[in-house]
Amino acid sequence: MPAITAVAPGKIILFGEHAVVYGRPAIAVPVSQVQARVIVTAMPRSDPGEVLIQAPDVGLEARLDELPADHPLASAVRGVLSTLGIARPPACMVRITSTIPVAAGLGSGAAVTVAILRALPAFLGQALPNERISALAYEVEKLYHGTPSGIDNTVITYAMPVYFVRGEPMQTLRLPEPFTMVIGDTGISSPTAIAVGDVRRLWQADPTGYEAIFDAIGKIAQAARQSIESGRPELLGSLMDENYALLHELNVSSPELDRLVEAARVAGALGAKLSGGGRGGNMIALVETEAARRVAQALQDHGAVRTIITTVKEATGVYD
Ligand code: MEV
Repeated sequence: MPAITAVAPGKIILFGEHAVVYGRPAIAVPVSQVQARVIVTAMPRSDPGEVLIQAPDVGLEARLDELPADHPLASAVRGVLSTLGIARPPACMVRITSTIPVAAGLGSGAAVTVAILRALPAFLGQALPNERISALAYEVEKLYHGTPSGIDNTVITYAMPVYFVRGEPMQTLRLPEPFTMVIGDTGISSPTAIAVGDVRRLWQADPTGYEAIFDAIGKIAQAARQSIESGRPELLGSLMDENYALLHELNVSSPELDRLVEAARVAGALGAKLSGGGRGGNMIALVETEAARRVAQALQDHGAVRTIITTVKEATGVYD
């Protein structure tokens, strides 16, 4: 049996994180410069049914049957086997690596899951449709962070810009005018579950106040969709600034994020905000293409441990 490789991209949320958990729309796009990679190889000398999971980045090497039910990697593998109705697969090794920083708002968990959900069925001579992959990945996302909206598994499965409303079918975005984003990593890892849980406590204490903030964020995401689809991405800058101000009200920013956002604006970005769960992780800045390197340099000068320049464009949905 030949070895099978599958990859899945990272992602950034352009607008609407956190509010999307409460049913407001959000916009996310894939980031192909970082990716999770899964290689499945046969282990002909092992007993049928044996599945070895190797994830050197997190120091894991274990047999599937040694891992608990709520282990996300094991759960993705088991999800494939039960979906395909395979109780004893040919003995194989599932090796997982990723260049997506963990707990940084770039979708590392969902990308690893999606890559498993593509590689393992292919190794078994089958393929799962995207809807199934996204639905299975959503179940695994719950193990990573409790009450996910489903935006990460959706944008990463389809690998194209999405306008997402929780519980509704995925909508793709028309993107007549590509635009450039600079991503800056604070280097501070911040599990999404914690930020999402803290926002939930604020909302529980003052539902009316926080629903109003979520509404305002949802309106920004709608306006952003209009700007993107009408080919006027330059209008997104001020919408990003407004969205960031509202994320402050949700208490999910941090001094490090503020410093990078400010540095990007001073260096000429059209707008900037945190992206993802917040409290650390990554921020994003909209730039004119010719300003991208300058803004990336400014972010590094102000403490970013890594920067990525990415072009947001209409995608084919084929990711390789
Ligand atoms: C995480 O990428 C985005 C959040 O809105 C959580 C979610 O949507 O599940 C913070």
